[in-house]
Amino acid sequence: MISTVSTKPYADQKPGTSGLRKKVPVFQQENYAENFIQAIFDSLEGFKGQTLVIGGDGRYYNREVIQVALKMAAANGFGKVMVGKGGILSTPAASHVIRKYHAFGGIVLSASHNPGGPTEDFGIKYNIGNGGPAPEKITDAIFARTKVIDSYKIADVADIDLDTTGSFDLAGMTVEVIDPVADYADLMETLFDFPAIRALIAGGFRVVIDSMSAVTGPYAVEILEKRLGAAAGSVRNEVPLPDFGHHHPDPNLVHAKTLYDDVMSADGPDFGAASDGDGDRNMVVGKGMFVTPSDSLAMIAANATCAPGYRQGIAGIARSMPTSAAADRVAEKLGIGMYETPTGWKFFGNLMDAGKVTVCGEESFGTGSDHVREKDGLWAVLFWLNIVAARKQSVKQIVESHWAEYGRNYYSRHDYEGVDTENANALVAALRAKLDSLPGSKINGLTVTAADDFAYHDPIDHSVSKNQGIRILFEGGSRIVFRLSGTGTSGATLRLYVERYEPDASRHGIETQAALADLIAAAEEVAEIKRYTGMNEPTVIT
Ligand code: G6P
Ligand code: ZN
Repeated sequence: MISTVSTKPYADQKPGTSGLRKKVPVFQQENYAENFIQAIFDSLEGFKGQTLVIGGDGRYYNREVIQVALKMAAANGFGKVMVGKGGILSTPAASHVIRKYHAFGGIVLSASHNPGGPTEDFGIKYNIGNGGPAPEKITDAIFARTKVIDSYKIADVADIDLDTTGSFDLAGMTVEVIDPVADYADLMETLFDFPAIRALIAGGFRVVIDSMSAVTGPYAVEILEKRLGAAAGSVRNEVPLPDFGHHHPDPNLVHAKTLYDDVMSADGPDFGAASDGDGDRNMVVGKGMFVTPSDSLAMIAANATCAPGYRQGIAGIARSMPTSAAADRVAEKLGIGMYETPTGWKFFGNLMDAGKVTVCGEESFGTGSDHVREKDGLWAVLFWLNIVAARKQSVKQIVESHWAEYGRNYYSRHDYEGVDTENANALVAALRAKLDSLPGSKINGLTVTAADDFAYHDPIDHSVSKNQGIRILFEGGSRIVFRLSGTGTSGATLRLYVERYEPDASRHGIETQAALADLIAAAEEVAEIKRYTGMNEPTVIT
């Protein structure tokens, strides 16, 4: 019943920021997914008889790979697999299920915010027993294994029916098809003040969530419409589709523009939110106010005790290096620890496991806490609703009063997508070569106080991650950061992050790009972005 199939290695199975991501046709090559899954199992120890969690964001090829992964888990000796009905589990829900049921680990099938469909993206990621993405030690071992793999094990059995919950036998292993939503919705109910949010909504506060035809639809319908009493239809694009209905399921000002425009219109809803393909990102918009992800982290931290799950206060805050320093001011005021990590949620895991931090956030529309070990889109949305309900103020009032108290960190990210990889690397190399000469010099009239290539020394396991982004800091707390994306699937994406700190409340109403114009010009001057990328403008500004 168990076959050992010979295979040949592929050279390109290096996991990126968040697992292995490739176009679907790449995954459809002979044994491509099988090789990677076997390489995961070969890099782990001690899972015989243990439980594995499997689920994905429902994108094209999800079901096929789940069937393969189930049969391979059985052949490799797992005792049980818990899989979401229909193959569905949002990334934060998968993290929660791993933790709640003390699973050995999980396989999450997703390419997050990248489009889905026969010629679009797919991905496989391994999460460890704490519910978080595998650390580099494991992903490096998986990559090393993919380069030499010569066989994989699979059970020769029929496909499992993924659309009926219950327990099934698969070649001696138990497969439990679970309701993907219930455990997660119950967890949210323990963290947030559902009665207060229900009363807010019943009182006429109008909330809409755009699930972008991706995984959060069923979760948002259950929580917002069923448990919190929002009107039917408050969750839009609520059915997960294999091609996401041709949406680009990335909740930002470009791809969720319809929602944004709707909330900003005079008779539109009071509050809008969107999530990405696999449910870990979030965008929050109040009437008259878009909340930047960096501000969202700071404001959730500052108001954390409004929510029952955080009533006792937070232990510390962590943010990725390119995320604005708005949260740093909150940590300072609360007298709690503040940690700056490289981009990638996996770097928060050790800090949360060690109890050093409770809330974490990234500029890339990710916010979350130690309730799971992934960022969590709906969690952030519910946190905001809880804060609005508790403070009895609009999102706009909450944001503006925060700026008045702490100062405003003007912030924007400029992406240059589809850049020739060699040119992108050359731009970074040229910047790196100048770093030592920059401090004390002026760029576009701004004085540089420090410049470096960010390196992270993990305070828990003492691992060191180098070359995590080039930072140029200016007098007064402004800065520009350059980084190449680790999640793209074609060419390179250059990211420029621009930040200015403005303590003066009379200067908090400036349009963001205007407030940052001299820094943006400084970035062009020092990095020659137009020349290296061949582009006159960024492809996306958020
Ligand atoms: C994924 C990761 C995040 C990361 C983001 C941006 O969403 O889960 O932790 O911040 O990608 O990565 P990139 O390398 O594209 O800037
Ligand atoms: Zn995602």
